[in-house]
Amino acid sequence: MSVVGARPNFMKIAPFAQAIEAHNRESSPVIEHILLHTGQHYDDAMSRMFFEALAIPDADINLGIGSGSHAQQVGQTMIAFERVVREEKPDWVVVVGDVNATCACSITAKKEQVRVAHIEAGLRSRDMSMPEEINRMVTDRLSDLLLTPDRLSGDNLRSEGVPEDRIRFVGNIMIDTLEAQKGKAEKLGLEEVVRANLHRGADRGRQKAELREQGITVMTMHRPSNVDSAEVLGDLVDFCRLEVCAEMPLVWPLHPRTENNLREFGLWEKVVGTPGIILLNPVGYHEMLRLNMAARVMLTDSGGLQEECCVLGTPCLTLRWNTERPVTLKEHGGASVLVGNEIKRIREAWRQTLDEDRRPVRPELWDGKTAQRIVRVMAARG
Ligand code: UD1
Repeated sequence: MSVVGARPNFMKIAPFAQAIEAHNRESSPVIEHILLHTGQHYDDAMSRMFFEALAIPDADINLGIGSGSHAQQVGQTMIAFERVVREEKPDWVVVVGDVNATCACSITAKKEQVRVAHIEAGLRSRDMSMPEEINRMVTDRLSDLLLTPDRLSGDNLRSEGVPEDRIRFVGNIMIDTLEAQKGKAEKLGLEEVVRANLHRGADRGRQKAELREQGITVMTMHRPSNVDSAEVLGDLVDFCRLEVCAEMPLVWPLHPRTENNLREFGLWEKVVGTPGIILLNPVGYHEMLRLNMAARVMLTDSGGLQEECCVLGTPCLTLRWNTERPVTLKEHGGASVLVGNEIKRIREAWRQTLDEDRRPVRPELWDGKTAQRIVRVMAARG
């Protein structure tokens, strides 16, 4: 039984589900796969669109958990998931990433004596103010099989005393999806992507910025550290309006949390009143890839985008002070620079990025074949 809950999980489970189907066509015994959605992300644009675009089979079970505080999301997921595990009695529960579903379902499975496999194990930001870091640590401590995306993650687990036979370096499963879907994204027109996803609440008449290939900045933000404080969010908005837009248009797909806060903090009018800022609804997988391909620079606090930039070669200014994905950083050959949310630092990195020209290095085993490796490892363990 595999578990998804929030947007960044969907592109990780798609290749896993497909690799099981491929295994079942070629090998026996057949693996029976139940896909469970906790329902943490429920808007069409945050969830259903991804299932359709990535041809993920419909979830067999949806727990319908929805929004709430962390304790509410985790607690309600545990209560509902316990019932499912008792009924279905899976041999394995497979969790991905670091969202609340990952943590809630690994705890529940372990208490029910079911083996847990964690895809994307061993990432550490060492920042305990991030809920995702707590989710990662709890999940990894409980998992029987830790499937790591890079060698640094394996080192983290070893230093925490995880026995060697639980760790398998398999590569980054998200890159399986990127490799499989890149061709389709390339065929999309940049203008069409923008037009089709223009934010319903923004004043379309004002959005006259001219889009040019390799001539836009793309931004995404949703982390509480960036969007939950009026001052921090206000400074970031001003940097975008006054400095980014002075160079090129800024295309900004909005996470629901960010949209709510822009309105609450009285920043909404400022944002929609800036001609160079092109606000979009949350966009689909292929659309985001297409924007990434057209981006001269990415500004983001998303871990997944840091990784995708690394493979697509887009310079990425990561709006965080730390990262659980150091393999994506410039010092490891990657595309990303940590800039936090201090405008001085963002400005310096922004100028430097515009002036330089470099190709990031693709990390080892980010080759599109991670899901196959995972299914092979799991099948061998029975
Ligand atoms: C979650 C993940 C985070 C991931 C992010 C990507 C955890 C701890 N965090 O954070 O790791 O990077 O998803 O999107 O699991 N909302 C909607 N519609 C939706 C989903 C959310 O309107 O479909 C709104 C709700 O008002 C909610 C807020 O967005 O309160 C935040 O959603 P939530 O699921 O709590 O966490 P994210 O910030 O999305």
